Amino acid sequence: MATRIDWVGANTRLLRQIAAEFRETQPFAGITIGTGIHLEPKTVALLMTLKDGGAKVVATGNLNSTQADAVAYLRECGITVIGEATRDPERHQGFLREVLASQPDILLDNGGDLFDLWRQSPTGNLIGGTEETTSGRARLEPLRSSLKLPILVINDSPIKQFAENEHAVGQSVLESYMRITNRVTNGQRVTVFGYGACGRGVALNFKGAHAKVSVVDRDPLKRLQAHLDGYDTPSRDEAIASADLIVTVTGGGRILGDEDMPLLKDKVILANAGHFPTEIDNTAITGSSEVVSTDVFSDGIASLTLRDGRVIHILAEGHMVNLAGARPLGNSIESMDLGFALQARCLEAVALRRVDASSCVVPVPRDINERVANAYLDLCYPNANPASSPA
Ligand SMILES: NC(=O)c1ccc[n+]([C@@H]2O[C@H](COP(=O)([O-])OP(=O)(O)OC[C@H]3O[C@@H](n4cnc5c(N)ncnc54)[C@H](O)[C@@H]3O)[C@@H](O)[C@H]2O)c1
Repeated sequence: MATRIDWVGANTRLLRQIAAEFRETQPFAGITIGTGIHLEPKTVALLMTLKDGGAKVVATGNLNSTQADAVAYLRECGITVIGEATRDPERHQGFLREVLASQPDILLDNGGDLFDLWRQSPTGNLIGGTEETTSGRARLEPLRSSLKLPILVINDSPIKQFAENEHAVGQSVLESYMRITNRVTNGQRVTVFGYGACGRGVALNFKGAHAKVSVVDRDPLKRLQAHLDGYDTPSRDEAIASADLIVTVTGGGRILGDEDMPLLKDKVILANAGHFPTEIDNTAITGSSEVVSTDVFSDGIASLTLRDGRVIHILAEGHMVNLAGARPLGNSIESMDLGFALQARCLEAVALRRVDASSCVVPVPRDINERVANAYLDLCYPNANPASSPA
C-alpha cells in the first residue's frame, strides 16, 4: 500500500518539477549538504530533490519532531540520517555535531543551530547555505560578522510569510488542537501570544471556528493591528486569566511560566506553536510544588491537578503542537511545497556561487521569489500566466 510519504511526494508538485530539472543539471554534484530539520514526509520530498541534484545529504532532525518512517525512508534512499527522535537537548546537540563532522559544503539550517555550532569551531570548506525560520534569523543576524557566508533566509520571503506562516500555521494549529483534544472551539476563549505572521493566522483560524480570540503582543504596533483586526487586546494578566486555550507563537524565550499558574483558569489548555519548546516552561509548570498529581494521556496531553483543585492541560509538553503532537501532519503540503521550492532554488544559488558573502543572513532574492510564484500559478492556471517558467 502507498504511504503518506508517497502521497506527499505526489502532491509536492513544485519540488517534482525541480527534481526533474536537477536530475539533468546536477547543481550539487560533489557537494555535501548538512541539515538539521524536522524529518517528516514534506522534508523527505525536499531532501530527495537535493539528492536528485547530485548532493550527498547528511541530515538530523529537530528536537522532538523526527518521524521514524521518514527516517527509515530516507535511509533506504541513501540519505545519511544521524540519530533519531529525541526530546533531550544534549543528545540533539550531539546529532548536530555529527552532521558538522561530515564537513558539509552547504548547510540547510532550521533554527540557527548548525550555523551557530559551525561558527564556534569552523571546519571544512563551508560555502554558505539557508536558514528556514524566524527564530533562526534572529539568532544569526548578530553573528553576521563572524559568519561571513552567503546565508539566504527562507522565512523572510513574502511567499513563506503569507503561504506558510500566516495561512498554513493557522490552519494546522487549529487542526492539531482539534485532532489532539477533540474539544469544541465554539464560544471558547482563546488567547494567542504573538501577532506576527503565525499569530495572525492562528487568531484568524480560531476566530473562524467561532472562538472568542484575545491577542497579547509586546509590540504596541502589533497590539494595535490586532485591535483593528477585531480582536480583544486586554492586559497580559487578563488575557491569561480569561482563556480556555492559550497558544504561544512568538519565537521568544519564556512566555508562560510557573509564576503564571495562579492566574490560569480551571481546565485551561496550553499549546505552543513557536519554534522552541521554551515558550511554555513545561519543566517549571509540571515540576511546580502546586501540582499534586499528573495524568498523561496517550495523545500527548498532560493534565496537572493543582492543590486548589484546578486542572491545567499541556499539549505535547510545549513542543510545536502541529509537529510534535499525536499523528502530526504539520502545515499543508502546498504551503511547504512553496517554501521548499524556495529552499531548493536558494541552495542552488549558493552551490552555483550566484550569491556571495555580501548576502549574509538576507531574504530570498526577488528573482527566486518570482520564479517560484510563477511556477505555482502556472500549475493553478496552466493557460493564464504569460510569465510562465519552471519552478
Ligand atoms: N509551528 C509551525 O509550523 C511554525 C511555522 C513557521 C514558524 N514558526 C515559528 O513561530 C514563531 C513565530 O513566527 P512569526 O513568523 O509569527 O514571527 P514574528 O516575528 O513575525 O512574530 C512574533 C510576534 O511575537 C511577538 N512577541 C515576541 N515576544 C513576545 C512576548 N514575550 N510577549 C508577547 N509577544 C511577543 C513579537 O512582537 C511579534 O509580533 C517562531 O518561533 C517561528 O519559528 C512555527
